[in-house]
Formats: sequence, C-alpha cells, structure tokens
Amino acid sequence: MTKIFIQDLKDYVGQEVEVSGWIANERSSGKIAFWQIRDGSGFAQAILNMEEISASKWAEAKKVTLESSVKIIAKVSKHPKKEEYELQVEDFDFYQIAEEYPIGKKDHGIDFLLDNRHLWLRSSRQWAIQRVRNTLIQATYEFMAKNNFIKIDAPILTPSACEGTTELFAIDYFDTTAYLSQSGQLYLEAAIFAHNKVYDFGPVFRAEKSKTRRHLTEFWMMDAEMAFVDLAGNIKVQEDLIRFMVQAVLSKNQAELKILERDTKPLNNIAKPFHQITHAEAVKMLQKMGSDIKADDDLGADDETILTKKFDNPIFVTHYPAKIKAFYMKRDNKDKDLALCADLLAPEGYGEIIGGSQREDDYETILSRIKEHKLPVKEFQWYLDLRKYGSVPHGGFGFGLERIVGWVCGLEHVRETIPFPRTIYRLRP
Ligand code: 4AD
Ligand code: MG
Repeated sequence: MTKIFIQDLKDYVGQEVEVSGWIANERSSGKIAFWQIRDGSGFAQAILNMEEISASKWAEAKKVTLESSVKIIAKVSKHPKKEEYELQVEDFDFYQIAEEYPIGKKDHGIDFLLDNRHLWLRSSRQWAIQRVRNTLIQATYEFMAKNNFIKIDAPILTPSACEGTTELFAIDYFDTTAYLSQSGQLYLEAAIFAHNKVYDFGPVFRAEKSKTRRHLTEFWMMDAEMAFVDLAGNIKVQEDLIRFMVQAVLSKNQAELKILERDTKPLNNIAKPFHQITHAEAVKMLQKMGSDIKADDDLGADDETILTKKFDNPIFVTHYPAKIKAFYMKRDNKDKDLALCADLLAPEGYGEIIGGSQREDDYETILSRIKEHKLPVKEFQWYLDLRKYGSVPHGGFGFGLERIVGWVCGLEHVRETIPFPRTIYRLRP
C-alpha cells in the first residue's frame, strides 16, 4: 500500500492509497458518512459508504469523534466539479478515538483559545498562519544565502543591553547577572570584520510592558549587518528582501491566504518601489491627520497605524531625531541632531516591521554616546575595539518575524503569529 500525504492526492487518482490523519469534521446521512481528514499537509474529504465496507467497520465508524486519529485505505477520486480530491474509503483503523474536543464550532473567547493553544494550533486558520510563517522563514534563508550573507549565531545570554536598559530580562548567572538578548546586532558588528555580510535569526526578548497588538516579550528577529554600506545601500537590501519574502508567500501559499481570507491585492503591490519619507515629513503628515505628535517625538503605535493606512505599499521613514534612537546610530553630517536610520512600516495600518541604521564607526564618538546613554563602558570594551582595528562605515537592520507574519496574513494581533506567544500576561502553555 502506498502511504501518501493529502497534498499529493492529485497524483494518485484511481489508485488505492493509505492516508493517516485526524478527523477535522464529520457528518453522516443514512448510508454515507463524510469525514474531513487533515494530515498536516492539507485537508480532504473521505467518503464511507455503508455498502462498500464491512458491517463491523460501519458500526465502528459510528464511534468517530472530532480529532480522532485514523488510518484510511481508500481509492482517490477527483471531485466532479471542483479542483478537489476525495478518498473513497475501503477500510480504516482508528489509532485513538478522541475524547470530546474542547474547541468546537461555537465562538470561543481569545483567552480560552490561548489557554488551549496546544490544541488551537490544529485549527485551519492557525495551521495556515504557521505555514505562511514557515515560508517567510525559508525565504529569508534563501535570500540571505543568495546574497552571500554568512549566518552568525549571536549569543542569547549577554552581559548588557543592546536596545535600551528598561526592557531587559535579568537572570541569575552564577555569581553575576546576565540579560536575555534584545537583538544580536552588536555581535554581528564584530562579525562583519571577518565576513563582511552577516545575519542571525533567532529568538530575542524584551520585558515590554506594552499591551498593544504588536508586542510580544519573546519574538524572532533576523538581524543583518554589512561592512562598507551606507543608509541607501542598507535600505536597498531591505526592500529586496521584503519583496522576495512576500513573493514567496504569494507563490507558495495561495491556499493558506484563502483560508485566512486575506485580500491579496495589497500584497501584489510590493512589486512597486517602496515609499521613502523623512521623520520630519511624517510628523507634518501626521499633524495634518490630527495627531498631536511633536517634531522630536517617536511615532506612536496610533501614528504608525494612521500613517500606513494612507499608503498602499511599505514606507521607509528615515532620519529620526537621534535623541529618541539607540546609542549606536550614526548621525547625519548635514544635521547632527538626526540619525542615519530608517524604520520600515508595513502598509494597511500594520506599522514598523524593520528597524535599521548606519552605525557610528568613530571611536571617540561612540564612546561618548555610550556614556551619554549611561551604559557600562567596561562591558562595551570589546565593542569599542571594533572602532580601533580597521573601523569601516557599516550598517544593518533587524526585522520582527511576527510583525511580518501578522501583516502578510492580515491578522489583528501578533499573538496568533507565533506558536506559543509570550506576553506580560501569558507564559503558558
Ligand atoms: O527596532 P528594533 O528595536 O531594532 C533593533 O533591535 C536593532 N538592533 C535591529 C538591527 O538594527 N539589527 O527591533 C527590530 C524589529 C522591529 O522593527 C519590530 O519588527 C520587531 O523587531 N520588534 C518586536 N516584535 C514583536 N514584539 C516586540 N516587543 C518587538 N520589538 C521589536
Ligand atoms: Mg524600532
């Protein structure tokens, strides 16, 4: 018997196959039972005809419950009207008949679903989201490899902050304190001197007290860092990468996007050049739209929402006031109060998905920034060394995977984009 996955049914029309999976739905009408089977690769309807299986099997089939696990021997047929393939069951065996499944067809509240995240992952929407996430991850690796970036695995246990001291998770580390990494960037800056173009991709941690739909305390970041690159060169890589990632989803995940009821028109736009505006221009636009943002303010979550609803494509917002950005950002020679940085905001109200900048490469300047930001100079000696031995103009960026998944899938909240979300209120399951 050929064991196959549902995704390959089309290649087996007219043949007898074995499929193992779970009962996602079932109904019966007299002499026929319909089981919707899912096996991880897809969904298919299995049809049991009382007259074509033994009496004892028909009796056993009646014991079926949602989420029971089953092995089916069936002949594959094509749906008479739709591009769908069905399983005409000849025999089956239950692996287990499931107890009454807690997630039913009725509407459950979000807390109930998150408490049952270990089960909720099986629902078709959640299944679709993780498949899109997987495509975005694979596309990232493919793009980075094609463009000659070397993967450098930055440490997670670190002695100091990368992105501001207020959002650090501290842990006991023998007789000292360690912090969970907020971004691998500083370590990548060291690695460019060996490899020129590098990246990391892993979990990062922020003790975010924010309760917004965009914040997690544990999320996945891809940081990239390049030697001999300026802000424009840095932006170009980000634009190409995001375009490549979205394109990969459009070509591989049409079925998933359909389950998610995602309007794909806005995603098709990413073929066009991304917009670029300065922070000062963004502030002016926002003020006209009724925001109370001031010249030196960071864009708040609401600002990003209203601004990006105005655009049909991602927007780079460049040249933020340096004082509201991280210590490592290089200043603009034309206006020393501005940072040579860019945040990439996703359209349709999604907001920031990437943060990036040119890095300060002068020893004395970066030393004074570290002091201004009240960071422990001793812990940054190694980082200062990078400005002593062959310092070069360099820059990079970091994307938040969950923000990108949320945007591409068209979701309300990032908590559905990661298998087991961590927020201030949630550490379980
Ligand atoms: O803008 P951020 O803080 O930039 C950095 O960490 C830089 N060191 C990256 C670099 O230049 N290598 O974070 C980068 C991205 C944000 O644009 C956002 O997409 C995501 O990480 N992010 C979060 N995602 C989910 N929950 C949070 N609490 C996040 N904080 C940042
Ligand atoms: Mg940022």
